Amino acid sequence: MGFFKKRSAKDGDAASSGSAPAGAMTSAAGPSAGVPAPSLTGSLTERSVIECLRQVAHPAQGRDVIDLGLVSNIKIGGGNVSFDLQIADAASPATAELKAACAAAVGKFPGVGHVSVNMTSKTRAGDEATRQVMPQVKNVIAIASGKGGVGKSTTAVNLAVALKQTGASVGILDADIYGPSVPTMMNIENAPRSMPDQSLEPATSLGIRLISMAFFMPKNQAAILRGPMVSGYVTQFIQRVVWGELDYLIIDYPPGTGDIQLTLSQQAPLTGAVIVTTPQEVALADVRRAVSMFETTGVPVLGVCETMSYFICDQCEKRHHIFKQGGGEAIAKSIGVPFLGGVPIDPRVTEGGDEGVPIVKGYPDSPAASAYREVAGAAVVQLDILEAERGNYLQSFQLEWAR
Ligand SMILES: Nc1ncnc2c1ncn2[C@@H]1O[C@H](COP(=O)(O)OP(=O)(O)OP(=O)(O)O)[C@@H](O)[C@H]1O
Ligand SMILES: [Mg+2]
Repeated sequence: MGFFKKRSAKDGDAASSGSAPAGAMTSAAGPSAGVPAPSLTGSLTERSVIECLRQVAHPAQGRDVIDLGLVSNIKIGGGNVSFDLQIADAASPATAELKAACAAAVGKFPGVGHVSVNMTSKTRAGDEATRQVMPQVKNVIAIASGKGGVGKSTTAVNLAVALKQTGASVGILDADIYGPSVPTMMNIENAPRSMPDQSLEPATSLGIRLISMAFFMPKNQAAILRGPMVSGYVTQFIQRVVWGELDYLIIDYPPGTGDIQLTLSQQAPLTGAVIVTTPQEVALADVRRAVSMFETTGVPVLGVCETMSYFICDQCEKRHHIFKQGGGEAIAKSIGVPFLGGVPIDPRVTEGGDEGVPIVKGYPDSPAASAYREVAGAAVVQLDILEAERGNYLQSFQLEWAR
């Protein structure tokens, strides 16, 4: 049955358009491929509003806001128009830009007076697999990389804080059993607790729930564990932690694509994966390996996040691309997955990691913090696209069935 493909034919669009650079959205960016320009004539109807909004491309995704399913609840009263626009991050400058572009696009239609764009933010309802293994968790996102030291844990922590700041409930599962680093990166407020029924209550930091092997190891001692023991710990973390209601659970993967990563990808009810890379050309093979691991286990790759992309000089304020400009974006494009954004090198990122205050919290106005927020927003858009595609698939299934 052809309809049962995990992702639809639209994936190709999502993948290639996903590599559009942030800020590419303007109403001048033109309509999505195959969508005719709207005729600015006729009476003002819901359809004409939709056609106007088809001219507005999402800054991170390239696809238009109607195609992405971000617009709902269109109301027309006299010449006034209002609608809801679903957004991932209220604080992002791209969000304000998107809102203005939507209002301007509709405002061009003859006879339109006031346009009111209501920003809404919603989390996905969660898929079947997540509901069974982690019934109270809506989305489980893996943060992985083909090789070590690329900034995965730092990304996991900062994305978690960025999502928390949108009002979502968030948890982090530090799955790096041999080298757990997440608790160091976040000042822990409450340690985890082992409950009489063998369940585990997670630690908390900045309102984020957290579990990590670091809590169960004597300080400064390496974990001396053999393969089966490691997967045992991972399984327990997946099955025994009482997360409570969570919108997002971020899983910080150990580096590489070995057995433990495969076990994780099979056992954890992953909604999607973010692949972290540095911009160098040599990273391509590593990213490919990581993407292929998730594809093998049927986990959609939400996109590539590039870290240590460039350095902003505090003398001249210019961006210096120390490694290679556009490396992560090119890698994403060549593999056919979206590019979620690039995070600059900033000593405050490391400082925040060492001191337990992630940069998104410690220096929210820094370029690195806003880059992490952009990446979080782009990942959420990909989750929405996945959900929309599931909806599309169901529709086509019903149509086929009815014939
Ligand atoms: N944008 C950045 N600017 C400056 N330093 C960074 C940035 N991102 C990460 N780092 C630093 O790079 C080092 C490695 O980061 P991190 O521990 O997050 O990588 P990792 O991929 O999780 O590593 P491992 O594979 O060992 O788990 C850390 O010292 C971190 O502070
Ligand atoms: Mg790490």
